[in-house]
Amino acid sequence: MVGENHQVLLRRRPVGTPSPDDFTIVDSPLPQPGAGEVLLRGLYLSLDPYMRGRISGVRSYAKPVEIGAVIEGRVVGEVVRSQHPDFFPGDFAYGGYGWQLYSAVPGADLVKLDPAEAPISTALGVLGMPGLTAYVGLSDIGRPQAGESVVVSAASGAVGAVVGQLAKAAGARVVGIAGGAEKCRYVESELGFDACLDHRAGDLGGALDAACANGIDVYWENVGGGVQQAVFPRLNDFGRMVLCGMVAEYNDQEPRPGPNLMAAVRKRLKIQGFIVSDQWQRFAEYRAMAAPLLREGRLKNREDIVDGLDNAPAAFIGLLQGRNFGKLLIRLAPDPTRSG
Ligand SMILES: NC(=O)c1ccc[n+]([C@@H]2O[C@H](COP(=O)([O-])OP(=O)(O)OC[C@H]3O[C@@H](n4cnc5c(N)ncnc54)[C@H](OP(=O)(O)O)[C@@H]3O)[C@@H](O)[C@H]2O)c1
Repeated sequence: MVGENHQVLLRRRPVGTPSPDDFTIVDSPLPQPGAGEVLLRGLYLSLDPYMRGRISGVRSYAKPVEIGAVIEGRVVGEVVRSQHPDFFPGDFAYGGYGWQLYSAVPGADLVKLDPAEAPISTALGVLGMPGLTAYVGLSDIGRPQAGESVVVSAASGAVGAVVGQLAKAAGARVVGIAGGAEKCRYVESELGFDACLDHRAGDLGGALDAACANGIDVYWENVGGGVQQAVFPRLNDFGRMVLCGMVAEYNDQEPRPGPNLMAAVRKRLKIQGFIVSDQWQRFAEYRAMAAPLLREGRLKNREDIVDGLDNAPAAFIGLLQGRNFGKLLIRLAPDPTRSG
């Protein structure tokens, strides 16, 4: 059934930790698909840490969201109207736009999804941008070798979970860092990491010394802050630090002091950042590798699904404080491909 649109707009730029008052929720007319466009009814909206940067107004590698505009986001949904020859009502697709129920988007920007291949929501997580991020950063920068020790922060999250599982498959010894005992149990028992350390339990340095007695060869950086301070001095000679993100610092109003880089000279470290959108062309290659692993249960994923667009601001604020457990998604409408 096609109804009205419902949107979350940016009301003002957050200062520090975002507040619900930074967002406003409005009803609006349904967008009409123009020539070559498709009207997509959203089923799942992905909430991702990068959105904090987009609403801050700071120009970086992508344009900020303007005040009064719909918040940026990626959506999986169902085609309800189409002016594009490749899409028909009832098709499922990835590539809808924004924190809203409906979007009219160019058919050329959509990827058709086959629910028989994998649950359609996974196109936003393990088989989507976060999964590709793990694959690209690990194969281009981290390059773990058999027997090396790899430490992954935010290990139960969308990116970290895939990083650790791919590093294990490469023969590395993998130690996760996560917030809380429940996440750590999941990382060890479900994802199969060799160990997982709770960064909220205190003395992370001591726990790293015990878990990585021979030092750390690869550090996958997802959080920054105190976790980074504990890991950096424990990197081995010729260690690699994959700078994926620093979510613990996204609400900061002042940049934090970084590590002393003389250690990187002495230890001949490789420290490299990357942005996954530079590597979209590898999407098909990643999906071809990961989709069979997911179907066979050799690649595990966990989704944290919150119902209702109105709950997106609170869920997003929680994501920046570690309240999510797994890939954070907003269910915009019941998923007709999933029973129960
Ligand atoms: N470079 C790229 O192209 C690229 C692409 C995608 C994502 N990323 C980055 O990858 C990282 C992970 O993203 P994701 O989508 O997979 O998110 P996620 O790990 O599913 O969720 C974020 C996690 O970060 C941790 N966290 C949040 N606030 C924290 C805080 N204040 N202190 C310590 N830990 C905190 C929490 O895990 P714990 O409770 O376990 O600490 C939280 O669950 C982010 O830094 C993101 O920006 C980069």
